[in-house]
Amino acid sequence: SLRPVDFVPVAVPRPSPAPEPRSMRSVLDESDRLRSRIVAGDENAVARQHALGKHTARERLDLLLDPGSFTEVDLYRRHQARGMKISENRPHTDGVVAGSGTIDGRRVFVYAQDFSVFGGSLGVAHASKIHKVMDLAISTGCPLIGLNDSGGARIQEGVMALDAYGGIFRRHVAASGIIPQISVVIGPCAGGAAYSPALTDFTFMVRGTAKMYLTGPDVVAAVNGEVVTHEELGGADVHGSQSGVATFVHDDEETCLADVRYLVSLLPANNLDSPPSDGPVGATTDERPHLAQLVPVEPTKPYDMRSVVAEVVDDGEFIEVHEHWAGNVICALGRVDGRPVGLVGNQPLVLAGVLDSAAAQKAARFVRFCDAFNIPLVTLVDVPGFLPGTAQEQGGAIRHGAKLLYAYCEATVPRIQVIIRKAYGGAYIVMDSRSIGSDLSLAWPTNEIAVMGAEGAVNVLFRKELTAAADPVTLRAELIAEYSEQLMHPHYAAERGLVDDVIDPAQTRAAIARGLEMMGTKRAAAPARKHGNVPL
Ligand code: HXC
Repeated sequence: SLRPVDFVPVAVPRPSPAPEPRSMRSVLDESDRLRSRIVAGDENAVARQHALGKHTARERLDLLLDPGSFTEVDLYRRHQARGMKISENRPHTDGVVAGSGTIDGRRVFVYAQDFSVFGGSLGVAHASKIHKVMDLAISTGCPLIGLNDSGGARIQEGVMALDAYGGIFRRHVAASGIIPQISVVIGPCAGGAAYSPALTDFTFMVRGTAKMYLTGPDVVAAVNGEVVTHEELGGADVHGSQSGVATFVHDDEETCLADVRYLVSLLPANNLDSPPSDGPVGATTDERPHLAQLVPVEPTKPYDMRSVVAEVVDDGEFIEVHEHWAGNVICALGRVDGRPVGLVGNQPLVLAGVLDSAAAQKAARFVRFCDAFNIPLVTLVDVPGFLPGTAQEQGGAIRHGAKLLYAYCEATVPRIQVIIRKAYGGAYIVMDSRSIGSDLSLAWPTNEIAVMGAEGAVNVLFRKELTAAADPVTLRAELIAEYSEQLMHPHYAAERGLVDDVIDPAQTRAAIARGLEMMGTKRAAAPARKHGNVPL
């Protein structure tokens, strides 16, 4: 039979005091408190960052962006990882501040790794924030700037962290040639993480704090027995002057981020955009008589090509790419008559301005960047040839020189060549000659364009005659004079249509400005192909 349910007496609860009614204000205050706590970060960790002579991620964004322009995404993002004591520690932001802001009113997308959270290490949540801003930068056609300060792949997240890095690399490549990509290394950037800056267009490094290497000093010591410091292995100066990994090197974060702003001011937002013009400044009639004094007539006497660049660009203002690496060629961005231009010039002050492997690689990458982003090229030629020797040949000088040749041949932006003095042999062709597509070729009356210099030519052509001659010295002098007169006179190339005009050096800036104006609407279509096979 059914039994009645036992009756259990229940204690009647005493009414508790009524909860404070929730107001919108209190909800907002609570939310604001959380936001402020996240934005302020951990006090001790921030102090540690400052003690290392570094700014925090947010302070860096303040230096980089227009005041009040930053819109943050994923402030509340936290990792979902388990184990290795990481489950209990889930700070918001996950070690990277990401979003968008403006530089001189022009939009950019940014991320700044925050070393005070897990050493800025990259796990899945951290990376997905970076992926998000990269995707937004690509889809909106805006430059991407990454501030790198990170211990690399977050060890606790294992292969998922490596997978997340792969997602960054793939996006860098997808964005390449579509939007300008700038890396700023202001802290460690080790292991595979170094490939992120390596895939971008420009890499800034700050002396003292930035270090980039595939394997750190401990691994180097264990594997090679080589004892090196972080600075010797991957400091800013090593990458700025020896490896060519860093495009710009700065003493401190303030000047570094100020130069990032300046660089952005010269670049278009994307490959379909025109570089930002300041408007004409009247360069088309601007005479520069000083140029004729700057450059000695004797072809072997050195001078600083940077001073020629300064005379050509507006207000003498330009930014030099790889200033301390492969100094025998100069690559710079500046403006002529308000229009951004890329300038490539041989530098007679370094190795007499010869082209070598490093110089060819430096200039090739620069030419390709300018071409991808619609920046006209001005090439200032004063080149004795290629650097001879076993070191160069065995190091692949042919392969590297071909990169520069390829880059110019491929470039469809307006191209102006100015031959200042020497332009010999293959180096003449490579330095944006008419034959490889220069649109406008100008030469100073001091130009010497030939297969080789007079002395070398006479030795090759008249070896037998000189050996047999009773007075070889006089004969040689006569032959050199004859060669120079016949094959190297200043109008030789102009008579043959390879030089469009022989100009007074004082007219250089004005002639370039007029050329740029003339070719402002240049269009060039190429047949479809997947991609060329640039000699890497
Ligand atoms: C998790 C990390 C971390 C990492 C640093 N931290 N690197 N946490 N994963 N990769 C944490 C530290 O445990 C520490 O936490 C805090 O960040 C600060 O680190 P410190 O060592 O105290 O700082 P410092 O002495 O300045 O040294 C910085 C450092 C060193 C040189 C970066 O931390 C370091 O060597 N980290 C490991 C670097 C590394 O080998 N990463 C993997 C590279 S391989 P607490 O809690 O103590 O504050 C890689 C592969 C990428 O990245 C592959 C892409 C394909």
